[in-house]
Amino acid sequence: MQGHKPTHIRDTHSLPEPQGCLINDPLRTVKYIQAGYDAIRAAMEKFPERPIRVLESGSGPYATLSMTLASLFEQGEVEFMALDIFEESIKCVYQISKVFGQSEKFPDLLVGDATTLSLEKLGKKAPHVVLCETMSPGLQVEPQVAITANFGDQMVEGGFFVPEKIDLSVAAAKLFPTRIKELGVIYSLTKEVSQRVKIAGRIDPKLLEMEQNLDVRMPLPEGLPRVDRLVLQTRLRLFGDRYLEPGESLITCPLSPFISEETRLPRGRIDWVRAKLVLGTAGSDPLKFSVGADSSQGAFPGIADSTDRSDLSDVTGPVSEVDLINGSCVGNGNWLNFRRFSKKLFEIAQKFIPPGYPD
Ligand SMILES: C[S@@+](CC[C@H](N)C(=O)[O-])C[C@H]1O[C@@H](n2cnc3c(N)ncnc32)[C@H](O)[C@@H]1O
Repeated sequence: MQGHKPTHIRDTHSLPEPQGCLINDPLRTVKYIQAGYDAIRAAMEKFPERPIRVLESGSGPYATLSMTLASLFEQGEVEFMALDIFEESIKCVYQISKVFGQSEKFPDLLVGDATTLSLEKLGKKAPHVVLCETMSPGLQVEPQVAITANFGDQMVEGGFFVPEKIDLSVAAAKLFPTRIKELGVIYSLTKEVSQRVKIAGRIDPKLLEMEQNLDVRMPLPEGLPRVDRLVLQTRLRLFGDRYLEPGESLITCPLSPFISEETRLPRGRIDWVRAKLVLGTAGSDPLKFSVGADSSQGAFPGIADSTDRSDLSDVTGPVSEVDLINGSCVGNGNWLNFRRFSKKLFEIAQKFIPPGYPD
């Protein structure tokens, strides 16, 4: 049992706020679990080695993803490594794994910083699959970019990182009725980010800062229709054809800068959109958009407003609250099973979570 006890490798500076596992964001969680399952199955087909090793980076107190997945595989087929920056979380994962009879499948419980941790230095074998959800909409504030960079090259060659790809795109939106037209992708995060920001196995702070400071000017071949606002959309390709779409979850909410009288969209022709934002923890600059015709300067007036909404008739399909609630995952067996499972998980976890710890 000794190997199952949490390993302490935490650097205690700049801790994030403690978080739960987002059981309150069920569509996100169900889709992550489905994608994790597919990724493990794909790894079992691709790699003859057993057990397949899975790292849940940023496990939270429940290790929701790996704790659920562990119950779907036999002992010896798959083993899980849970990592979180909070010791309380990892202690809780340890207790839950025992209550669920899954502790043998969790040989490694690590307290540490996922943006800097080296598995090799700890004597741990490289994982075949990494599961990671440490993000906010628009990849703002939370360290998903840095964690993807840190673990992107610490997997076995050809291993699977879930999510496989996170796209940020600019979209034109009209509020009543809600319609959204995507204008183009301005940033994609994949595990290959490691090659851009790491030197000699460590993240280079300057390269990471460059990666995270986006200033993208995007041409609009047919011009921008008159819209209420520009929004930043977040879409995750979790694994294969499993996607978490914009608006489906707390981590894919569209983001929009503050609207003010001074920051209306100019009337007339618009040839380009410029987006400026800082990803991850590197800074707190707000999201800014500017738009213009070729001859204009491209300052950052922020958000646009318009009273003339007539020329947005070509936008793709309406998005409504009902559509979001009836998203593709809701209503099938997995959803219902997860509701029952998460209730049990939550009840058990209450015994181990310190008072005041968030859900
Ligand atoms: C949103 S929760 C995800 C929990 C769980 N994996 C899930 O998907 O339901 C993100 C977790 O990442 C942890 N975290 C944030 N920054 C971290 C870091 N730099 N190193 C390790 N864990 C971190 C937080 O403490 C939190 O528990």
